[in-house]
Amino acid sequence: MERAVSLYTFVKGVPSVSVPFDGPAGGVVARVHRSWRSIPSHQTRADENLQGLKSPSRVRIGALKIGIFGGTGDLGGGLALRLSRRNDVFVGSRDAGRAKSVARELTQMVNASAFMAAGEIEGATNVEVVEGCEMVAFAVPADTLEGFLESAKEFPWKGQIVLSPVTRFEKAGGTFAYRPFSLGGRPISAAELVQETLGEKVRVVSGLHCVPAARLKDLADPMGFDVPLAGPRDSAAVVAQVLEGIEGLRPLFAGPLAVSASLEALTPLLLNIAVRNKLKEPGFRVVG
Ligand SMILES: NC(=O)c1ccc[n+]([C@@H]2O[C@H](COP(=O)([O-])OP(=O)(O)OC[C@H]3O[C@@H](n4cnc5c(N)ncnc54)[C@H](OP(=O)(O)O)[C@@H]3O)[C@@H](O)[C@H]2O)c1
Repeated sequence: MERAVSLYTFVKGVPSVSVPFDGPAGGVVARVHRSWRSIPSHQTRADENLQGLKSPSRVRIGALKIGIFGGTGDLGGGLALRLSRRNDVFVGSRDAGRAKSVARELTQMVNASAFMAAGEIEGATNVEVVEGCEMVAFAVPADTLEGFLESAKEFPWKGQIVLSPVTRFEKAGGTFAYRPFSLGGRPISAAELVQETLGEKVRVVSGLHCVPAARLKDLADPMGFDVPLAGPRDSAAVVAQVLEGIEGLRPLFAGPLAVSASLEALTPLLLNIAVRNKLKEPGFRVVG
């Protein structure tokens, strides 16, 4: 498998990022370009649509097929909407009918808004998401993660990048507290649990924990959030590139996957601050 994006260091100006993916045709099947000037000969339908819709100075060329487990839910739905600006998105579900119905609703939301989406939103079962997508987000409830991973182990993974926004916390005595998972008697973050369970068939990147679903779903919301990412640098760079396609999100590299527990623990911290300071749907931003 090609080792891609090794030169991408979260510094502006690097011309392109390629996503290694052993798809049905084998080898690299997707290429994300950082500059609108370098229009590739194999440009996608999404690229063509974007060129017609936006002024070139605002357009970055490139699109992936991105699937979302739990795409029928709050975070998954919001993410599907925003990602469709550049990418074809597959709303994943345990139920094919629910997936298609939610995909139709989300498409109607896009069509009824001023949001310009170059990609399509379609419904798929979770297995179909793995069969057809180059990147997969795990937008399933934290308390179902361990059980879901048991079935996800059997899915036909091909080296995809997996984005884990999962964070588990509990409320005790009026205070939210982070609750890690456990593996072999040691505490472990959600993202590390996904990586350990699925093994080398996936490359897990942790992120998006502090982006409220409601803010993603409101397509007129400018957001303005930072999104710290933890994981292997090359995989995190690809996720960063994808998230940069969402206006109002700034990806920041936080470190290897071992940092994920700190990222996941930001959510209960933010909730404690929100409750005590009467903040509605707050997000995370680094000043410096
Ligand atoms: N909500 C937020 O604002 C937010 C923000 C940042 C991060 N997150 C994280 O994102 C994840 C999803 O949160 P959410 O609020 O979007 O969850 P949610 O709306 O409660 O559920 C998402 C979807 O997960 C699927 N699901 C439910 N039980 C499942 C199971 N046992 N196995 C497999 N799939 C199951 C369902 O889809 P189907 O029934 O169609 O399969 C459901 O629509 C959580 O881990 C959370 O920590 C949430």
